Amino acid sequence: MPRASQSIHGIWASRLTFILAATGSAVGLGNIWKFPYIAGENGGGAFVLVYLFCILLVGVPIMMAEVLLGRRGRQSPVNSMIELAREAGASKAWGLLGWIGVISGFLILSYYSVIAGWALEYVLRVGDGTFVGAKSEFAGTLFNELTGNPVRLAFWHTVFMCMTMFVVARGVNRGLEAAVRILMPALFVLLLILVGYAVSSGAFMEGFKFLFSMRAESLSANSLVVALGHAFFTLSLGMGAIMIYGAYMPKTSSIGATVCAVAFLDTLVALVAGLAIFPIVFANGLEAAAGPGLMFVTLPLAFGNMPLGRFFGVLFFVLVSFAAWSSSISLIEPAVAWMVERFGVSRVKVAIGLGFLTWLLGLGTVFSFNIWKSVQVFGLTFFDALDFLTANIMLPLGGVAIALFVGWKMREADVHGELSLESPRVYALWRFLVRFLSPAAVLFIFTLTLYRYFTQ
Ligand code: TRP
Repeated sequence: MPRASQSIHGIWASRLTFILAATGSAVGLGNIWKFPYIAGENGGGAFVLVYLFCILLVGVPIMMAEVLLGRRGRQSPVNSMIELAREAGASKAWGLLGWIGVISGFLILSYYSVIAGWALEYVLRVGDGTFVGAKSEFAGTLFNELTGNPVRLAFWHTVFMCMTMFVVARGVNRGLEAAVRILMPALFVLLLILVGYAVSSGAFMEGFKFLFSMRAESLSANSLVVALGHAFFTLSLGMGAIMIYGAYMPKTSSIGATVCAVAFLDTLVALVAGLAIFPIVFANGLEAAAGPGLMFVTLPLAFGNMPLGRFFGVLFFVLVSFAAWSSSISLIEPAVAWMVERFGVSRVKVAIGLGFLTWLLGLGTVFSFNIWKSVQVFGLTFFDALDFLTANIMLPLGGVAIALFVGWKMREADVHGELSLESPRVYALWRFLVRFLSPAAVLFIFTLTLYRYFTQ
C-alpha cells in the first residue's frame, strides 16, 4: 500500500513549524512551574543531574522513535499504531499503546488546566498591584487563599479549558503557529530578565549551587522516579502527543536534528526558570521544598520589588499562560484526532464533548487543594496521586512500549529509511539506546523504587 504523504488533519507548513509546535507542546508548566518545585523537593543538584541524563539517554532517543511512528502512521496514535503493527506483522494489541496515551493525555490535562488557571489569576493579581513592595509571608498567604477557594479555582479552570478546546476545535495548525513563533521567544527573554533580577538581588550563587552542586545523599529512590517521569513529562513524551505532531510533519525533515533542537530548547527553559526562582527563594528565606506553590510565591515577590515589576509581572504570567495553552492542546489532540477518524464527527463536537469530560475530572484536582484536602489515595491527595500515576508511571511505560516497538518490532529497513540519519555511527548509537538502554533504565528505576517501597 502506498504511504500517505499527508494526514487527513493537515500538515505543518514547514520543518520550522514542526519545531515550533513541538517546542510549544514541550515548553509549558512543566518547565517553569513543575521543574523548579520538584528540584526543590528533591534536594537540587543530584536530582538535576539525573534529570539531565534521563533527557539525553532516554528522552531524546524515545522522542525520535515517537516522531518516527507518527510520521509513518500519519493518523491518530491509536490508528497509527494499529496500522504500523499490521505493517510490521506484529499483534494488533499494539493499538492499546495509543489508547493508554489517549487516557494519559486526558488525565494530565484535567489537572494541567487547574494549574494553568492559577497563572491566569496571577495575571490579574500582579497587574492590580497586589504585590507592590510585598514580603514573603504575604505572597504565601495570598497563594494559600487562592488554593483554598474552590470557586475561584474552578472558575479559572473553566476559562482555561475553554481556551484549549477553542484552538483544538479549529484544528491545531491554525493559530498555534503564530502564538509559538512570537510568544516562546518573548517568554524566554522575560525569564532572562528575571535571572538578571536574581543576579542583582544577592543570592544568585546560592541558587546556582543549589541547582548544580552534587549532594548525592539527598537523592532517594523516589527522586529517581520523579526525575525520570519528569523527563517524559517535560518533553511531552510517551502518550502520543509528539506522535500526532509527527503525523503532521513533512517527509523531508530530519527527525534527529529536529528532536535535538526541541529537547535542547526545552531543557534550557527549565534550567533558566530554576536560575530565576532559586536565588529569590534563598534571598527571602523561603522554603526550597515548598511544593506546587513555589513559582507563585517567589516570582510575584520579585515583580513586587523590581522596577517596572507590574509590567513585567503581567507579561510574565500572560506568557506562562500561553506556554501552558500551547502544551494543553497537544494533550487532547490525540483523542480528538482519533474520534474524528473513528466517528467522522466534526472537530467542534468532539472538542466540546471531550472538553466537558476533562473539565469534570479537573474538579477533582480543584477540590484536592481545599475541601478534599484530607482525602488520600495511597497517601497522596487526588492531585498528587494523579500527577504521580500519569507522569511517573504511565508516561515512562508508554515510552518504553514505543522504544520496544520501534527497536524490536518494526522492520529495520523501514526504521532506517524513516530516520534517514546521515551518520551510520549516530544511527547505531540511537538504535542501541532505543533497543537496550532506554528500556533498561526505565525498568531499573521502577524495580528499585518498588524494592525500596516494600523494604522500607
Ligand atoms: N510538556 C508539557 C510541559 O512541560 C506538558 C505536556 C504537553 C505533556 N503535552 C504532553 C506532558 C504530553 C506529557 C505528555 O508543560
